[in-house]
Amino acid sequence: MRCRKCNRPAVFNMRQHRLALCEIHYPEWFITQARRAIEKYRMFGRDDRLLVAVSGGKDSLALWDVLLRLGYRTDGLYIDLGIDGGARYSITSRAKVEQFAAERPSAQFTVVDIKAEYGETLPEVARRVQRGRSKPCSVCGLIKRHAMNQVAHDGGYDALATGHNLDDEVAVLFGNLLHWQTGYIARQAPVLPATHGGLARKVKPFYRLHERETAAYALITGIDYIYDECPHAVGATSLRYKGILNQMEEESPGTKLQFYQGFLRARKVGFFCEKTQEVELHPCSNCGQPTSAPGLCTFCRLWERAPVDD
Ligand code: AMP
Ligand code: FES
Ligand code: ZN
Ligand code: ZN
Repeated sequence: MRCRKCNRPAVFNMRQHRLALCEIHYPEWFITQARRAIEKYRMFGRDDRLLVAVSGGKDSLALWDVLLRLGYRTDGLYIDLGIDGGARYSITSRAKVEQFAAERPSAQFTVVDIKAEYGETLPEVARRVQRGRSKPCSVCGLIKRHAMNQVAHDGGYDALATGHNLDDEVAVLFGNLLHWQTGYIARQAPVLPATHGGLARKVKPFYRLHERETAAYALITGIDYIYDECPHAVGATSLRYKGILNQMEEESPGTKLQFYQGFLRARKVGFFCEKTQEVELHPCSNCGQPTSAPGLCTFCRLWERAPVDD
């Protein structure tokens, strides 16, 4: 196979785009896709300060790399959840972020160490509040959201960028449609505007890029990342949905992108409207983040010692 642009040997073929590219033109194409997404959705501008949430995985490190190459003002954020799972998951992923930053003089990053700040790792707090009944992933989502909002707010960042790719977005959409979670569907988008002061504007510059495209970018440009999934993700429904969607993509290349773009068009013409019923939000009495509960927010309640009831 030959590169469409220069006819040299291609290193990567994208059936859904009927496009094969070489090791020079593939990264160029990839960066252009991200740049177009940023511009199309006016995610941020040249003067904005961006906080990039980096997990040590391929997507978020590729995102940070692309934003740096495009000349945006970025800082990284790594949240250390203290996950071991027999594979030293957090230690290894943190080391990947450190290595990435050490190789790039302009890449500075903050670490939020959950155990050091709140006294327990994610698996410990999840075991306590859920009494071991379910996976820690929902508590994990809550902790990550809180830490991202807090650092973005305290650091005065204009936007928070995450490495969510097309496969992530499509799997979430698929799950939400399967259960007709209309509220969640209405709030799924490449850009979520800042709401209520305390919550940062959220942007996903890779929303159109397939997981195998971000993996190829990382590989070709020499970004070292953690290959393992989080040990708690084993058996997660989102991974099952990804498997089903990949099967469909295999038989009919382009399915995932069509599905997601069709959704964005439907959303744009008002197919999925958020309920206008405004929920009254107050600042949490401990951390100050907006919450609908009077008193403490759900995150701060995690660290109260009494186990949370059903
Ligand atoms: P996930 O929820 O694991 O699919 O990750 C989605 C995105 O959240 C990643 O692309 C990162 O941008 C961000 N993220 C996930 N885990 C972390 C972490 N431990 N620290 C900072 N950002 C993270
Ligand atoms: Fe959060 Fe696995 S990364 S539970
Ligand atoms: Zn080429
Ligand atoms: Zn709080």
